[in-house]
Amino acid sequence: MISRTRICIALAALGLSSFGGSVSTSELTPLTSSGHPGAGPASNVPTFGDPLPGLTTTLRAAFANGLETFQEVDTPETGLGPVFNNVSCVACHSTPVPGGGSTILETRFGRLVNGQFDPLTALGGSLLQDQAIDPTAQEVIPSQANVVAKRMTTPLFGAGLIEAIPDAEILLNAAIPRPDGVSGRPSIITDVASGNLRVGRFGWKAQQATLLAFAGDAYLNEMGITNRLFPQENPPNGSAALLAAYDHVADPEDVVDPATGKSDIDFFADFMRLLAPPQTLPLSPAAKAGKSLFTQIGCSHCHTPSMVTGPNSAPALNLKVVSLYSDLLLHDMGTLGDGIAQAAASPSEMRTAPLWGLRARAAYLHDGRGATVDAAITLHDGEAATARGRYVALPPVLKQELLQFLGTI
Ligand code: HEC
Ligand code: HEC
Repeated sequence: MISRTRICIALAALGLSSFGGSVSTSELTPLTSSGHPGAGPASNVPTFGDPLPGLTTTLRAAFANGLETFQEVDTPETGLGPVFNNVSCVACHSTPVPGGGSTILETRFGRLVNGQFDPLTALGGSLLQDQAIDPTAQEVIPSQANVVAKRMTTPLFGAGLIEAIPDAEILLNAAIPRPDGVSGRPSIITDVASGNLRVGRFGWKAQQATLLAFAGDAYLNEMGITNRLFPQENPPNGSAALLAAYDHVADPEDVVDPATGKSDIDFFADFMRLLAPPQTLPLSPAAKAGKSLFTQIGCSHCHTPSMVTGPNSAPALNLKVVSLYSDLLLHDMGTLGDGIAQAAASPSEMRTAPLWGLRARAAYLHDGRGATVDAAITLHDGEAATARGRYVALPPVLKQELLQFLGTI
């Protein structure tokens, strides 16, 4: 048992106010590692993989159709490739259920010279497709590349709620001054789905603003399926000759389903938009103390506990509190940056990772370099260096409380 006084002294030494929770090591219970916590929520509360609660029959059907399409396997006959990373969305977005993330990594490359990043587009960059429908078309990392980075598959739970947060709310967050040298910038991009300037929020670089745009991007770049938003094939390592030799399906390969008037990218977007967010678990006294610590040591400067969706025609997305633990802004993360410039993000800028559903992930940070949550926090740098320093200096029992809290969100 560690005395409350000692903890207050430790906090005072870190320049923090005394904290409100009671602490005893006996209250510490292990982090839940599975997606379906045993001491789980009541059965009417959604769990990972469920649709948003309270959907109309029509929207429930759209969710089910979307889930089916999300799991469909493409083949060279249906347009897969010539170069691709996998054969279905669910091949990567699988854990703990379809719509989740996974530890599957993909590779980006480019060339940095005198601080200028070149994505080597003419050589097939910046995303490497690591499979091909014929070995001759197989991409390799070109010798010109001097930056190579890995990116881990992000989960999609609650993506529709994130999409429904108005740009203005994210811009407001960016405008509020924050202490500890934290700044943060909105990722302003052109949304290919609408043609409008929007605040990007999806992907490690906040590179897309809408689920439809991300679906079109992923269908082309992960699976090699051209679609109405991304109608041009990726030539293997930039070679038009190899493309001509192996691309035999007419574009766009994603065709309109006559029954519904929708293409696959619309079905993917429906599924992701209607996928329930991670369920918040009840807080033990230790986790409650960890929640206060999260704010006190400055994690919440970037990992904003919640935002609110705007008015939405779907009641399930209308004016909802979204407990995502992210400001959806780009931050200069110093050595934690991935070295790749993409959309609005510079090589060292990354989107604040939403922390909800952390308990369902098996590795952390954009390239999985954090084997544990503790390691992920310790590897923060750049704008997060002050908060990281405070975390590292916490007595072990307080670190445990913070980690317990992170296991409930
Ligand atoms: C080869 C593995 C792979 C496949 C196949 C794949 N994804 Fe992903 N997905 C990823 C990775 C990796 C990321 C993170 C990418 C990044 O930010 O660079 C990601 C991110 C996303 C995101 C952003 C979520 C967020 O908030 O960060 C969406 C949306 C998404 N994928 C949808 C899809 C859809 C729809 C499909 C099928 C058309 C698909 N993905 C197929 C690996 C994959
Ligand atoms: C300056 C903004 C900032 C601050 C402050 C900050 N983080 Fe982060 N955090 C990020 C960014 C950006 C990422 C994504 C990094 C990457 O690309 O790998 C991240 C990632 C994480 C992850 C990994 C999530 C995942 O999906 O793999 C955890 C866990 C985390 N932060 C916890 C914390 C905790 C706890 C604190 C307080 C000690 C904290 N962060 C402070 C910006 C911040």
